[in-house]
Amino acid sequence: MNVKSMVLFIIVWLATATTGVAEERVRIDVQAKEKSAVYDKECASCHMAYAPSMLPARSWKKIMSDLSNHFGDNAEVSKEVKQQVTAYLERNAAEHNDGRYAKSMLGLLGKQETPLRVSGTTYFKLMHDLVKPHMVAMNAKVKTIARCNACHHQALQGKFNRMDARIPDFFKRGNRFVPDRLY
Ligand code: HEC
Ligand code: HEC
Repeated sequence: MNVKSMVLFIIVWLATATTGVAEERVRIDVQAKEKSAVYDKECASCHMAYAPSMLPARSWKKIMSDLSNHFGDNAEVSKEVKQQVTAYLERNAAEHNDGRYAKSMLGLLGKQETPLRVSGTTYFKLMHDLVKPHMVAMNAKVKTIARCNACHHQALQGKFNRMDARIPDFFKRGNRFVPDRLY
């Protein structure tokens, strides 16, 4: 191998190695193929807009049917908006998505189960086995597990990767998270 081909080889190797890493960075992409301005406007004022594929259609239907009594808040909308948003969520629900998240979530969901929380599914709970209440409720930078973007920096883009998940003021030591301030 002469110097020229050696340099070329290194350049190609670096290029493929870095794209490999870039791809690996996003393990889970829940971004909906169809966007809805109404959904983003009406359902992302108090919290982030959750990806429709994170719940089955029956869950969205149930959530949308009781908005005046929405986790202790009143999130009621007009009849037209409700129809539009419900249809959007149902069309893009987990059953109509072949991504990793939807498949895994549905795979672990009982037929009779209608979770009202993204964080209420078995899949979600298994994924967050290492995340304990004191890292969330008692952590002023997180407060609630429903704030995905507190720990997943690309959550608003619908992208998740366990390697990139960070709990503010905690660090991962072996297989658990410990408070920064203790070290
Ligand atoms: C007036 C504020 C408000 C609006 C508007 C609102 N929500 Fe919520 N929502 C809440 C609160 C409060 C919670 C509970 C958050 C928590 O437990 O930390 C919540 C939780 C949720 C959850 C469960 C999150 C989880 O996994 O724990 C879903 C799903 C949800 N909302 C869907 C919607 C949809 C769909 C809309 C639009 C129709 C909407 N929300 C509009 C206040 C709101
Ligand atoms: C308090 C921080 C925190 C919050 C809030 C949080 N997560 Fe996580 N999440 C984590 C951690 C930490 C992991 C990785 C755990 C591990 O290393 O096993 C994780 C893992 C995941 C994974 C698995 C990623 C993979 O590569 O397999 C998904 C998907 C996920 N979270 C989605 C969510 C969603 C959706 C929400 C909001 C409803 C959320 N998370 C809220 C900390 C959080």
